[in-house]
Amino acid sequence: MELSKTEIEDLDRIKRLNIINAITGIKPGNLLGSKSSKNETNLAIFSSVIHLGSHPALLGIIVRPANNIRRDTYENILNTGFYTINHINNDIVQKAHYSSVKFDKNISEFNKLNLNEQYIDDFYAPFLKESYVKIGMKFKEEINIKANGTKLIVGQIVQLSIPDIAISKEGYVNLEILNSVGIGGLNSYYTLKLKEQHPFARVENLPNFNAS
Ligand SMILES: Cc1cc2nc3c(=O)[nH]c(=O)nc-3n(C[C@H](O)[C@H](O)[C@H](O)COP(=O)(O)O)c2cc1C
Repeated sequence: MELSKTEIEDLDRIKRLNIINAITGIKPGNLLGSKSSKNETNLAIFSSVIHLGSHPALLGIIVRPANNIRRDTYENILNTGFYTINHINNDIVQKAHYSSVKFDKNISEFNKLNLNEQYIDDFYAPFLKESYVKIGMKFKEEINIKANGTKLIVGQIVQLSIPDIAISKEGYVNLEILNSVGIGGLNSYYTLKLKEQHPFARVENLPNFNAS
């Protein structure tokens, strides 16, 4: 299939959404935990978590335009300043997918999906007990993306929980051992298999590729 800009724009809305959402390849699968200032908890699937930098340890998420739609995760983050990012694993894929249902604000996805809240120390937002990698986030800044009205939410990692078995002495994290899943588009979930690892790439350790 070859598509020009006009042909992309002329596609059926759902088909365009499916293609363009999938075209970047595998995205990380995460559930965002948050809590309103009235103590209503929320859990929502997000595939847009991105690394922004390690020192300080910053992650971004992309939130869809609010328009007239209620965005609970977004509002909870802005109102309370805290949220959690929890890896989806193979055992909870179906529940994770259905966290995207628009339940009423006072209905917690934790209850509806039979998933458990976990509180670590005095961190305000709920972690997901069933998740193996749990990241506590503090809101830092919001950037409006003028091109389409989405928002980049920048947060700092202030708490991190990861099983020792999945992290090497150098700090390499093995996502296969963690049973973490990858997401294609908006409805395809992939198990992950570690294929190979390489040292930091330098001119001195360049393999022989028989190049000229
Ligand atoms: C696979 C998948 C990935 C998603 N990723 C995002 C995302 O990165 N950003 C976003 O704003 N919504 C994303 N959504 C939609 C939200 O999960 C959905 O709007 C959800 O209802 C938001 O919940 P909230 O209103 O409680 O925050 C995704 C949905 C699915 C099924």
